[in-house]
Amino acid sequence: MNIYHTVSGLRAEIRARRQRGESVGFVPTMGNLHEGHLQLVRLAKEQCDVVVVSIFVNPLQFGLNEDWEKYPRTFQGDAKKLEAEGCDFLFHPDENEIYPNGMADQTRVVVPTMTDILCGASRPGHFEGVTTVVSKLLHIVQPDTAIFGIKDYQQLAVIRRMVEDLCIPVDIVGAPIARDVDGLALSSRNGYLSKDERPRVKVLYETLCWCREQIAAGEKDFSQLEIEATKALEKSGFRTDYVSIRNAKTLEPAAHDDQQLTILGAMFTKGARLIDNISLALSESPPAEQTEVK
Ligand code: PAF
Repeated sequence: MNIYHTVSGLRAEIRARRQRGESVGFVPTMGNLHEGHLQLVRLAKEQCDVVVVSIFVNPLQFGLNEDWEKYPRTFQGDAKKLEAEGCDFLFHPDENEIYPNGMADQTRVVVPTMTDILCGASRPGHFEGVTTVVSKLLHIVQPDTAIFGIKDYQQLAVIRRMVEDLCIPVDIVGAPIARDVDGLALSSRNGYLSKDERPRVKVLYETLCWCREQIAAGEKDFSQLEIEATKALEKSGFRTDYVSIRNAKTLEPAAHDDQQLTILGAMFTKGARLIDNISLALSESPPAEQTEVK
């Protein structure tokens, strides 16, 4: 595995491989890699000849009071894991390489409307930081395929929208959510959970599963379900950010005749904000994005 810290170094290598007719798969990450990330890398390897992974803790997508400073930087361990998975190129730029004109003067990419809701409502500016850095990374790597976890469902929907709106020639693939044995979605931020909280946070997944069962059984009062779900989280001692039943593609509040739904939830623990989601299809139409690793 070759490691690159500069855009020009990485590009030269990718160009050489492309000239040999090889396809390029790309997995952007912020490091602190866990099994969920490694599954993205395996998917990229299945689909493409060359796999590029980036590790960049993007300051532009963190709010002022968020965890950018304490976000775990575990580069040596991450590099070993990627090497073992057969990653070809690891791109590890510093802030200057990505934002050479400074962050304040950086040209921004904004996907309107769908970024102001759900996670965007409690993390203003977050998705602007994500779309700006992801569009830069897509321009740097120019992959045939880029893989993102379905766990960040809204992020994936926003990136799909950006790629569609800006005609970026890349195939965006959503990879199923990897879960711990009790159902907790794997996340770099699970490391912030205290010993006392860890066994209790499965309530988020359980609550979304409960909502899915109710809807599959014919329940159409989505607002009431959201209220009940919020109560369940609060009863377990966690502050709810939201539980929301949405159209799987547009992320607008689900209408009664929508067939493809996604139930999204976010809650606060003492040191973390956890998110999760489950999709379901109500008819014979193609299934909603598969969210689970079976
Ligand atoms: O999901 C993440 O890890 C980040 O938001 C991403 C896509 C790497 C952009 O910084």
